Amino acid sequence: MSATVSSVPEATGPLIGDRYLAGNFAPVDTEVTAFDLPVLHGAIPAVLDGRYLRNGPNPFAGEDPSAYHWFTGAGMVHGVRLRDGKAEWYRNRWVRSPQVARQLGEVPPENPWDDDGVFAANTNVVDIGGTTMAIVEAGGPPIELSDELETLRVGNLDGTLPKAFSAHPKRNPATGELHVAAYWWGWGNQIQYLVVGTDGRVRTAVDVPLPGAPMVHDLAITERWAVLFDLPCLFDLEAAMGGARLPYTWQPDYGARLGLLPIDGSGEARWFEIEPCYVYHPLNAYEDAQGRVVLDVARHRSTFAGDRHGPNEGSVTLDRYALDPATGAVGHDRLDDRSQEFPRHDERVLGRAYRYGYTAGFDSDGRHLSMRGAYKHDLVAATSTAHDYGPGRSTGELVFVPESPDAAEDDGWLMSFVHDATDDHSELVILHAQDVGGDPVARIALPQRVPMGFHGNWIPTPA
Ligand SMILES: [Fe+2]
Repeated sequence: MSATVSSVPEATGPLIGDRYLAGNFAPVDTEVTAFDLPVLHGAIPAVLDGRYLRNGPNPFAGEDPSAYHWFTGAGMVHGVRLRDGKAEWYRNRWVRSPQVARQLGEVPPENPWDDDGVFAANTNVVDIGGTTMAIVEAGGPPIELSDELETLRVGNLDGTLPKAFSAHPKRNPATGELHVAAYWWGWGNQIQYLVVGTDGRVRTAVDVPLPGAPMVHDLAITERWAVLFDLPCLFDLEAAMGGARLPYTWQPDYGARLGLLPIDGSGEARWFEIEPCYVYHPLNAYEDAQGRVVLDVARHRSTFAGDRHGPNEGSVTLDRYALDPATGAVGHDRLDDRSQEFPRHDERVLGRAYRYGYTAGFDSDGRHLSMRGAYKHDLVAATSTAHDYGPGRSTGELVFVPESPDAAEDDGWLMSFVHDATDDHSELVILHAQDVGGDPVARIALPQRVPMGFHGNWIPTPA
């Protein structure tokens, strides 16, 4: 974890958004299609048959660097198709919202919404009901993509989506249904809880009243509960009137609460007060033998308090909360005080007792932000293993892919895009999850740099 990212410039002036346009935050300006990618090291497991896709902001030239917010750049999906031990192709494509299409000089896509200015779908890319979709929070609809990442249309889940979606739907492994916490400033003091069926249609939409209008990036689920976050990063009308690209600010006097809502959306949420903090991402949650909800998260002390342009407020720790519905008691422990983010696990244990979690090192000092090595956490043994990608090399989120449907929880691979600042190139790197500290299983050369981004997934080829 000692690598440095040499291309990140020293920032000594006022805190403005230019830091999120420099180094490997800088966008690329070309859409590339390349075939038969060189394998630089190791071998691609022949059993891997599918696409590794990742979304992230890729703003157009001309952004005002003083106003730019990392979360608001136009979305671009980067993808690599693996089959028969080969990397068949790499593609990167801007996600065409109507605005993005116009900026590219193209005809805007089919759009079922009245709102022509739909938000850039820049945060995650998932399969919903058999369709690849670029997704985002804060009111923007999903945007449907072809298997080769061309924009097909602005989506509305077959006419069933009331308004906002989320970048973090949680797929219940027992049912295949998606559970979603959606927010939009226009709703006022509430969020909306959605359940999406395996057919890709919303079957439950429940308004959840709140004391304010928080930014709700994610949720967690267990077998019986949806775990909701009501944390003090709130819609700020003054900031909106002032033209802020993302008008949400840190308001700790609001307090902070975790909520348990029955997973079918029936009944009222039960709320548990916690010390103010911000959680973009839970690692996972489950119910223990006593019926308590155990919730593991990447915990930020605050967000958008010092840095109004990105999530950069110092060390982000791995913490565990325990919520007892019987007594109302809340437990809070620190699992790891090393800074880390982008927690992922084996999706087959989502919402269930689990053993392993994977995170990316997250170096945040209030000015510089970079993601270095990777961690594997054994939460039963309370141990961890690190992977150092080497000098000048930084990873993004790690996506776990099981070796087979019935493989052991850590029997599979971890995929991420890795940037090498020494010569400014990028690779798709595959680690074995049972040998995180060891040599990569494969390093695949990419034909262009992949900027730092947000989330992705492995989408297997349908059987
Ligand atoms: Fe996220």
